[in-house]
Amino acid sequence: MLLVLYLEVLVRGNIEGSKLASNKEGIAILVDVLRASTTIPIAMQKGIRKFYVAKEVEDARLTKKELETILMGERGCLKLPGFDYGNSPTEIFNETSFDKEVAAFTSSTGAKRIVDAIGSKYLIIGSIVNAAAVVKKCIELTTNSPLTIVIVPTFTHGPITDNTVTEDQIGALLITQEFKKVGMKLDSKTLKEIKLLEEHMKNLSIEEILLATDHGQKLIDLGFTKDIEFCSRLNFTSKVPISENNVYELSNRNKVVAFL
Ligand code: MLT
Repeated sequence: MLLVLYLEVLVRGNIEGSKLASNKEGIAILVDVLRASTTIPIAMQKGIRKFYVAKEVEDARLTKKELETILMGERGCLKLPGFDYGNSPTEIFNETSFDKEVAAFTSSTGAKRIVDAIGSKYLIIGSIVNAAAVVKKCIELTTNSPLTIVIVPTFTHGPITDNTVTEDQIGALLITQEFKKVGMKLDSKTLKEIKLLEEHMKNLSIEEILLATDHGQKLIDLGFTKDIEFCSRLNFTSKVPISENNVYELSNRNKVVAFL
């Protein structure tokens, strides 16, 4: 049976989306399909218990020093000097064990938009791999207290009705599609985008759609084609990294967000 839910679900991209989520003090769902918001839930599935997400590389390094974490992340899509892991979900999924269960993480865009959403009541890392689980979690969180949900494609050129090559917009729409399946009311603009995506998906797999995006092309050039297939696995995991606006202030006064 479908539930008819009257929560406000907005899709707003880029830094404006993170700031809106923070101002609304509701639920921010941060979406960086390729690859940060795929890597983090997959690492949790593989045994990382807690993530500290940092905006800057030096903040991630300082987190390692102050909180004795391992280091994960990238700049220019590549693993950084001294880091234990890059930002490849395939690499992380193939790992059999980690030295520590707590990780500091930074990435070029996704991590920044996550830190920008500090102030939201809950911050959730959402992607194609955990879309249905993210929606289930949001429904649990809003059962007794209706909260605005802001889905934030961390880098987007806007609606796919205007531009089809931004993977975070596509990931955000696959999450809204899961909200639609459980009876959530969505605005007409979002419904139009979902319809267009569904039309594309009659002819193309999610992997093919991601391969054609700008960032997909960059990852292919850098030899990370396998990651694109991995990131396209709809509902592969039930892991939902969540932070109850749990922020740690480093000795340099910068903030990192803790996800469980
Ligand atoms: C980012 O945060 O910009 C991405 O996750 C980059 C990447 O693919 O590693």
